[in-house]
Amino acid sequence: MTVHEALKGAVAQLRKAGVEDARLSAEVLIQRVLGVGKAHLYAHPDRVLTQEEERRIAEGVSRRARREPLQYITGVVEFYGLELEVGPDVLIPRPETEGLVERVLGWRSMWERPLIADVGTGSGALAVALAHHWPGARIVGIDVSPGAFQVASRNIRRHGLADRVSLVQGDLLFPLLDHGQRADIVVSNPPYIPSGDIDGLQPEVARFEPRAALDGGGDGLDVYRRLFFQLPEVLSRPGAVAVEVGAGQAGAVRRLLEQSCGVVAGGAGGAAAVQMETGTDRDLAGIERVVWARLS
Ligand SMILES: C[S@@+](CC[C@H](N)C(=O)[O-])C[C@H]1O[C@@H](n2cnc3c(N)ncnc32)[C@H](O)[C@@H]1O
Repeated sequence: MTVHEALKGAVAQLRKAGVEDARLSAEVLIQRVLGVGKAHLYAHPDRVLTQEEERRIAEGVSRRARREPLQYITGVVEFYGLELEVGPDVLIPRPETEGLVERVLGWRSMWERPLIADVGTGSGALAVALAHHWPGARIVGIDVSPGAFQVASRNIRRHGLADRVSLVQGDLLFPLLDHGQRADIVVSNPPYIPSGDIDGLQPEVARFEPRAALDGGGDGLDVYRRLFFQLPEVLSRPGAVAVEVGAGQAGAVRRLLEQSCGVVAGGAGGAAAVQMETGTDRDLAGIERVVWARLS
């Protein structure tokens, strides 16, 4: 079988299985087995594959045809310009989550050496990107999932950040609350899909990504409510919070955050002493994706 034949066959098989990015998936799966770039596939269409190459390509293509996400098959994803390991224990970091990184990095002039809590760290995507681009920052990544903990620790080591990024297995901000520790910044991309919507998502998400990374309860807002309830005891003054939200959730989440930060501001000697600013940021598709608050 030649490269051209393998590519043609893979694209056809993936299209038949309903895979949206059939050509891209086929190209990436073949490139990975051959250890070559995309240009090579098209520059050498007549290259004859070995039996072992054919077998490995067929294996990858049938996994993808069963709708397993491409990133779980290759084991890597790029997030904010950094390569990260991913697998079935963690959500695949999405491009829209890069807006959360942008928002937090925009606060660099406020602190030299902040402590940032990344709640629901998953693969460690936010923790790694923030630590990489904010050399003075210390980050604590928190996640309930033991599997995510393992993946995140490998990603932290992979990028040489273990001296500034630590991980705790635990529920929301309890690991900080338990030690009376405060954070300057709390960042989170929590599970926010309404429970009843999950089965209707594309198979790559519904069947393969961890339920604990998706399920935000009946209306999708359960985790925000619990997280914001804990904020007044954890957030420093000055302090800042940024969370990712699902499409259509920004208004409700901003109201919940304003209530919580109102308590923070009031608790530090009254609203006159602590000023609160809140806002939302849109993603590249124009959807309100990040809700944030800053107390100064
Ligand atoms: C949507 S994923 C986000 C992963 C990663 N931060 C990212 O942006 O790609 C949500 C993560 O929150 C974790 N999680 C869910 N409930 C949690 C809780 N109560 N406390 C801590 N982590 C939780 C899940 O295990 C999952 O890794």
